[in-house]
Amino acid sequence: MTAGGQPRGIDVHDLRVLVTAGAGGIGRAIAEAFVEAGSRVHICDVAESSIADALGRVPGLSATCGDASEPADAGRVVADLCRSLGGLDVLINNVGIAGPTGGVETYSDADVDRTIDVNLKSQFYFLNRCVPLLKASTRAPSIVAMSSVAGRLGYAYRTPYAATKWAIVGLVKSLAAELGPDGVRANAILPGVVNGPRMDGVIADRASVLGISFEAMREDYLGRISLRRMVEAEDVANLALFLSSGMARNITGQAISVDGNVEYL
Ligand SMILES: NC(=O)c1ccc[n+]([C@@H]2O[C@H](COP(=O)([O-])OP(=O)(O)OC[C@H]3O[C@@H](n4cnc5c(N)ncnc54)[C@H](O)[C@@H]3O)[C@@H](O)[C@H]2O)c1
Repeated sequence: MTAGGQPRGIDVHDLRVLVTAGAGGIGRAIAEAFVEAGSRVHICDVAESSIADALGRVPGLSATCGDASEPADAGRVVADLCRSLGGLDVLINNVGIAGPTGGVETYSDADVDRTIDVNLKSQFYFLNRCVPLLKASTRAPSIVAMSSVAGRLGYAYRTPYAATKWAIVGLVKSLAAELGPDGVRANAILPGVVNGPRMDGVIADRASVLGISFEAMREDYLGRISLRRMVEAEDVANLALFLSSGMARNITGQAISVDGNVEYL
């Protein structure tokens, strides 16, 4: 038994979970992991075809199509999840885009705005609507916000992205203090170089800015990681499960990396 009197092991059975951007990438892996572990999961995503695919493949999932950076869409998502789940125990604020790559003087205002809207403002739109539900939960409620290794290290040529990911760390530390007395925990996950199409795009963009080949850029990235390998979306999902379970009942206000120890960016 744990100190909390629960059976040892990661138990997220019957938790009601919202995953933003849950139809693809890391969000999809998180949604699938919670469903496999017996949670009830609602996702939102902007890509209709990815939602259709997720609903077809993941039994019991419910979903809303919408842009997480639009307050009205966030409202629709939360209204839908109240109907499908009847409340909320875990908010996974996962949505995030790479934003522009290049020198700080080269970005368009629109690219900077879009990165901040999707990566940071969306966090607030969902917090605003979900925190009352979390406070009403009797199942050790918690928030997991997706930051990045770029929220722990400086990241040249990706400054809008890095700025939003550092902001998320400040956000969860503040939320932990604000919501702790109500029993709501808040933590950030900082994934590193995650294997998949998004990272291929990031490597390609950076290779082009630096004028080197994709393969050389990929090797360069691996050389910065102590374990010399990328992480998988499932590694990130495993931490999300742990942080949402009773095993983590006294962990709040933390920024935890899943990155094989990225030494520099
Ligand atoms: N992939 C990585 O290597 C990596 C590393 C560190 C941190 N992260 C963070 O993890 C989170 C997930 O990243 P990912 O790689 O899975 O992303 P991704 O680019 O693979 O996209 C995942 C999903 O997000 C959806 N999406 C995009 N914009 C949206 C919006 N405005 N509203 C709703 N849905 C939207 C997409 O349709 C897609 O289904 C992000 O916050 C990202 O910054 C990713």
